[in-house]
Amino acid sequence: MANTILSVREITKDYPGVRAIDHLSFDVEEGEVHALIGENGAGKSTLIKTLSGAITPTAGTIVVNGKEFSEMTPKLAKEQGIGVIYQEFTLVPGISAAENVFLGEKTSKGIFVNIKERERRAKELFDEMQVEIDVSKPVRDLSPACQQIVEIAKAVSKEVKILIMDEPTAPLTVSEVDTLFRVVRDLKKKGVTIIYISHRLEELFEIADRVTVMRDGAYVGTEKMADIDRRKLIAMMAGRELKESYPSRKVDVGEEVLRVENLYGNGDRNISFALHRGEILGFAGLVGAGRTELMRVIYGADPMESGKVYIHGKEVHIKCCGDAIQAGIGYIPEDRKAHGVFLPMTIKWNTVINNLKAFSSGLFVDTKKENRAAEEYREKFRIKTPSLEQRVRNLSGGNQQKVVLAKTLAANSEIVIFDEPTRGIDVGAKQEIYKLMNELVESGKSILMVSSDMPELLGMSDRVIVIYEGEKTGEVSKEEFNQNYILDLASGGKENGTD
Ligand SMILES: Nc1ncnc2c1ncn2[C@@H]1O[C@H](COP(=O)(O)OP(=O)(O)OP(=O)(O)O)[C@@H](O)[C@H]1O
Ligand SMILES: [Mg+2]
Repeated sequence: MANTILSVREITKDYPGVRAIDHLSFDVEEGEVHALIGENGAGKSTLIKTLSGAITPTAGTIVVNGKEFSEMTPKLAKEQGIGVIYQEFTLVPGISAAENVFLGEKTSKGIFVNIKERERRAKELFDEMQVEIDVSKPVRDLSPACQQIVEIAKAVSKEVKILIMDEPTAPLTVSEVDTLFRVVRDLKKKGVTIIYISHRLEELFEIADRVTVMRDGAYVGTEKMADIDRRKLIAMMAGRELKESYPSRKVDVGEEVLRVENLYGNGDRNISFALHRGEILGFAGLVGAGRTELMRVIYGADPMESGKVYIHGKEVHIKCCGDAIQAGIGYIPEDRKAHGVFLPMTIKWNTVINNLKAFSSGLFVDTKKENRAAEEYREKFRIKTPSLEQRVRNLSGGNQQKVVLAKTLAANSEIVIFDEPTRGIDVGAKQEIYKLMNELVESGKSILMVSSDMPELLGMSDRVIVIYEGEKTGEVSKEEFNQNYILDLASGGKENGTD
């Protein structure tokens, strides 16, 4: 029998109007990878915060290594060897990878931090993980995958016994997930216990030994991964059977609405493509290939160096996001925290802010209209909140992402850019987003979609453009869709028929 290293006993956490965790109990065995899953807002991140001492539970106890705690503090958690990698990055963007890894650590040389020494030790850690990261670069300039690895190195450098990872793979692509899994397996070999949160269920079958499912803050069950399948897991999470497929749509792709010619800027070179009415045009590529960079140039968030952009055949000069919104382009960014929503403001405020004109009559804001719109999106995406007046900061990660969607969609743009639209979104809500994308194109709008989820990209797009290191390496039509072929193009392979 394996040892129980951690027990959660009857933990409850109340916030005003919400019971985030509801008498939750389960055990984690020493040395296992224990997955924790549940829909957006189920209470996963809140539980993690009670384990790390970031918040105090309303009731219940936590038992670690046989010691019982009615409340953790960050200091106690650290002493017990609990390390956490949070859903939202906690790195300091302006300082180097090495400094981030050893942030807050006292050095033997008194107040002077020996940067070279830290860089050497950071490099050692990265070498051990077999990843190449420039330790002296500010983390701001690293890819999301590398930032995630820095987060892990930071936790591992503290000699953790229990490592909790809250959606570590959300910003990663397939090959980067492999790197992360290698690191996780190595940690497991060293006897580290891992609690692993993810909405990518297929990963759990690869990496987890057991899984605990939560719903509405409460315990649903714990299963061995070997004894359960995907369908059952989804039913446990949702409390009902859910169909998983890419919904079909009825739409005739029409005239050209957007044309980009020889675009240079933000690291991208010589990119040309056209988008048509009623079309979903997908963009494939590895993380860091330059897809988000391209979308940001089109949206006016970053400058275009040269090239031309036409909307309905007329050249437009988009110099800022305001110009793009005027021109009928909406953008759902991948990084919700930095660009997506105003966290201190309410759900309602965020929903209407991009299209205030539509919510006013004369000089006055039409509050009823605002409420109706916000309510509509809350229902559509099942945004979990006690009230539309809730500040977005207090929502769960996935529910914040849903507000980002609502904010852009309520602006009613003709062309909508979806950048990783379902990252961190639970299976049920994913289906709603796909349906909504279909509704948009069926009503004559057009979509540019960046996604690192290949089945999703192929399931939803009419055509896919592949970007590799800032250049277009292929354009693939639906009839030619083939995951391996596209992955090959995404890693710099050449298109069929050319050499
Ligand atoms: N500080 C807070 N104030 C008010 N409500 C909160 C606060 N923190 C969390 N909640 C609520 O608690 C519930 C659980 O949130 P939590 O972040 O734990 O969900 P989650 O399972 O991690 O979801 P996701 O998959 O979206 O990350 C949600 O309804 C959320 O709105
Ligand atoms: Mg969460």
